[in-house]
Amino acid sequence: MTWNVLGIVGSLRAASYNRALMRAAVELAPADMKITVFDGIGDLPLFNGDVEAAGDPPPVQRFKQAIAAADALLIATPEYNYGVPGLLKNAIDWGSRPPGKSAFRGKPAAIVGASMGTGGTTRAQHSLRQSFVAVEIYAMVQPEFLLARAHDRIDVDGRLHDEKTRNALGAVLTAFSVWIARCRR
Ligand code: FNR
Repeated sequence: MTWNVLGIVGSLRAASYNRALMRAAVELAPADMKITVFDGIGDLPLFNGDVEAAGDPPPVQRFKQAIAAADALLIATPEYNYGVPGLLKNAIDWGSRPPGKSAFRGKPAAIVGASMGTGGTTRAQHSLRQSFVAVEIYAMVQPEFLLARAHDRIDVDGRLHDEKTRNALGAVLTAFSVWIARCRR
């Protein structure tokens, strides 16, 4: 059994540390997990109930289909002003619609995040967990993965070079595989 995990990165920056983290996660995934990164959250329009009422635009349809096809979600979030970047929150809001038919409902998830500060996205991750209660996403509780001072551990080519951090990320993904099995039985 291979778990199909949809990777979602909450940054559009080409040199994003969170994108680099996701890239490392793809490399370090255990043998029973395949992570496919969704590249289209930047194409989602800002959520607007009028747009929704006229029918989901194609980027929204594509996003919902990708969520529905996945066994689980891996989210790499930056922290903006102590919270979740609007880009990522907007994607969650679209994916959560319509009420009662959310593509997210019941999906297991793991949250990771990288920041240049010392907090390592702790506040953004907690804020995301709060939204996941509403959306009924089962976010893995432990181990947490907070990458502080990302610029010291990710090089200019976007490679996570710090061995200790790579091992910690690998351990998170192994635990995530167990979490997915537990949520889906
Ligand atoms: C930040 N950054 C930041 N970092 C942090 O640890 N806590 C914070 O509250 C904020 N706030 C914040 C607001 C805004 C608008 C920006 C643009 C940035 C810094 C942030 O961690 C850094 O820019 C990361 O590099 C962003 O992630 P990516 O794009 O590298 O994945």
